[in-house]
Amino acid sequence: MIIKTAQFEVSNSDYKKCPDTSKLEYAFIGRSNVGKSSLINMLTNHKKLAKISSSPGKTQLVNHFLINDKWYLVDLPGYGYAKVSKSNREKFGQLIKDYILKRTQLVILFVLIDVRHDPQKIDLEFMEWLGEKQIPFSIIFTKADKLSSSKLHKSLTSYKKKMLDRWEIMPSHYISSSEDKRGKDEILDYIDELNKNIKLE
Ligand code: GTP
Ligand code: MG
Repeated sequence: MIIKTAQFEVSNSDYKKCPDTSKLEYAFIGRSNVGKSSLINMLTNHKKLAKISSSPGKTQLVNHFLINDKWYLVDLPGYGYAKVSKSNREKFGQLIKDYILKRTQLVILFVLIDVRHDPQKIDLEFMEWLGEKQIPFSIIFTKADKLSSSKLHKSLTSYKKKMLDRWEIMPSHYISSSEDKRGKDEILDYIDELNKNIKLE
């Protein structure tokens, strides 16, 4: 799929104020600093569409980006950032939960995982929660450029093994890098396929 236009539409601190539309949307979630905003820029061929930062906690709102005038990519705040005050963490937590559980336009949630790290409890528990709530999700392993191909392979193998402790099959997953654009075509093709097959009731 070719992205012809990508424009920022709106930021919200309340899911109820998100665009009132029948357009489908695809959201990115994961720990702070995992590369959600960078991935949106990479997929849309923009450097500064979504705001990125080397310090965690940059994205604090639900951000809608309109793609090809037809569908949305949604940048969400990261979870698990210890330096955000407890009350703010609860506020983001509630915002994320509400958005995920109540946003009927959401087709699939992409859960981003930094491929360099061992499986983290917070990500595993988050995916289990998605499973319990029957929220469709796919995993994107980010920052693949930071590992050699043998380390990448090793890391993916051990992540899959860990997932299979709790899941019958490994959820669908992609490997990406916002630096070398790995994963771009596969992720966009997947979204394209979903756009063609899903109609909101
Ligand atoms: P929050 O908004 O704080 O939750 O973070 P985020 O998940 O949106 O992460 P963001 O895209 O802001 O990226 C965090 C840092 O990681 C930045 O310094 C990025 O340049 C870097 N980064 C993101 N993706 C990649 C990648 O694929 N490869 C490399 N090498 N660096 C990356
Ligand atoms: Mg961000």
